[in-house]
Amino acid sequence: TGALAADKLILAGQLLDVQSGELTASQAILVQDQRIQQILPIRQLSPAQRAIPTLDLSAYTVLPGLIDMHVHLTSNPQQHGFRRLNSTPSRQAIFGVGAAEVTLHAGFTTVRNLGAAGFADVDLRNAIDEGEITGPRMRVAGHSICMTGGHCDNNLLPHTYAATGFGVANSPDETRKRVRENMKYGANLIKFTATGGVLSRNTDVNASQFSLAEMQALVAEAHDRGAKVAAHAHGLHGMKRAIEAGVDSIEHASFLNDEVLAMAAERGTYLVMDIYVSDYILSEGEAAGILPESLAKERQVGQLQRENFRRAVAAGVNLAYGTDAGVYTHGHNARQFAYMVEWGMTPLQAIQSATLHAATLLDWRNEQGQLNVGLLEPGAYADLVAVEGNPLLNIRLLEAIPVVVKGGLQVK
Ligand code: ARG
Repeated sequence: TGALAADKLILAGQLLDVQSGELTASQAILVQDQRIQQILPIRQLSPAQRAIPTLDLSAYTVLPGLIDMHVHLTSNPQQHGFRRLNSTPSRQAIFGVGAAEVTLHAGFTTVRNLGAAGFADVDLRNAIDEGEITGPRMRVAGHSICMTGGHCDNNLLPHTYAATGFGVANSPDETRKRVRENMKYGANLIKFTATGGVLSRNTDVNASQFSLAEMQALVAEAHDRGAKVAAHAHGLHGMKRAIEAGVDSIEHASFLNDEVLAMAAERGTYLVMDIYVSDYILSEGEAAGILPESLAKERQVGQLQRENFRRAVAAGVNLAYGTDAGVYTHGHNARQFAYMVEWGMTPLQAIQSATLHAATLLDWRNEQGQLNVGLLEPGAYADLVAVEGNPLLNIRLLEAIPVVVKGGLQVK
């Protein structure tokens, strides 16, 4: 690509290398066709390069665009519990248009969407990619897969209504089939639920969901298709079973113990721990329609999850940034950074979890096999954010990001 002319020049006052944690002053980023072509000191720019249309961020610290590995862009955080019965996948997709824009404007240039009804997330991703609407790059799961009565089923109505979640499966053959169906309709990855959840009716956060055989069939099929697998799990046994089945990430991981940490370390399994959302659920949740039983479950999960996050950080396991935005307000994705620092990470580790580590779990690569997102290097998309000051000294700078660039284009 070096032979082709760059079409954009971005000047960075300071550039954060998320791998080393080093800040380098006065760097120039040359962009060609949405991707970084070259990074060099500003003083080494040739006169021809200086003439390229320029975005001057020399007053800012520049870092890679952020990645949230657990969002639900089609979920309205004001519509929990029975209120959710009153919305269709198309209504949710329309809601998602606004959610996508605020998420991008918050500095999250890539998101992993972990489940949406009626493949609304596939449509949202495609509308963004086709330039119809503004939003982050999306990698999507389509329908969440779970057992009858599981966390992704519809358990709100009595049996006379015959309401069933889209991704319900009840045998190894059926979990396999749901994976094939998701891939057929455009999913990039697979999400299933390995235990009950906080926000689902009549499920137990400690109870496992799916047999090992059901999980293994699901994971084998997904990996055959080149898709990663994310497993929702709060309880210990479901978490262990999912890791044993070979999942790529455990979502929530609330009740982890040393054995889980050892298993995750050995297999390289990522933990994606949403340690901010509890504050929203316990303060705004009731007004948003969250069921009393869910509020009671959250009171068991939230604090312990934070304490266990600290243990996970100390153990040095792979941690990626994921917030469950959609349960709470879209665009507030960055509020979790300060919590991660409060509960044991350095600011650099927190930033790495939302850039390099998230991208490594996502494993989304260009034709040369390089990561597409999560770092600023030749070959990656020119997705970046700029803040005034040093986020390694004040992580909360990321809560109000003034400049967002996606594919070399300033979107905020
Ligand atoms: N979607 C998750 C569930 O229903 C939200 C859990 C939120 N609570 C927490 N402490 N992370 O289980």
